Amino acid sequence: MGSQSKLSILFTSEEIEATVSKLAAEIRQDYLGKHPILIGVLKGSFMFMADLIRLLDFPLEVEFIRLSSYGGGRKSSGKIKVVQGLQSEVRGRHILVIEDIVDTGLTTGFLLDYLGKKKPASLRLCALTDKPSRRKTPVTIDYRGLTVPDKFIVGYGLDWDEKFRYLPDICVLENEG
Ligand code: PRP
Repeated sequence: MGSQSKLSILFTSEEIEATVSKLAAEIRQDYLGKHPILIGVLKGSFMFMADLIRLLDFPLEVEFIRLSSYGGGRKSSGKIKVVQGLQSEVRGRHILVIEDIVDTGLTTGFLLDYLGKKKPASLRLCALTDKPSRRKTPVTIDYRGLTVPDKFIVGYGLDWDEKFRYLPDICVLENEG
């Protein structure tokens, strides 16, 4: 994967915007008045989180957590650790985890387990994209955006080797030749 790779648009920025609006409406309906903590999973969720939260016009708190699961390339090592933890107390609070993608489910499964042990009042997951064909562990996605095929996707926060996060569209990264 290098000079021979090619990008093709899978979801345009307009399609992403419509999806984020739909998710925001669902979340607003369920969390209005609950003062939830939205936890973005770094780094990939940063763009989605910013656009989503702009559409949530009610009191909430913003947190980030960083986990390590992938190396520099495409494959998951399957070993996950918390690299940057939470600043807030989540016990007794309504927690909504914000992910850019659920792929094998290993990262999110680990995180939901980790957060569940902290005894929140509720714990749900919102994922902009879902790649169910790659699932290794079952994960319930309470607010699901776009279903993606078993292709490597980049853009709108998603990277390959730290590249392409800045793209406004979600693109398939294909190997030519
Ligand atoms: C991505 C994504 C999820 C995870 C999903 O993060 O943000 O956290 O992979 O994959 P899984 O379902 O197979 O566990 P990544 O480790 O690539 O880090 P990044 O967000 O910093 O790019």
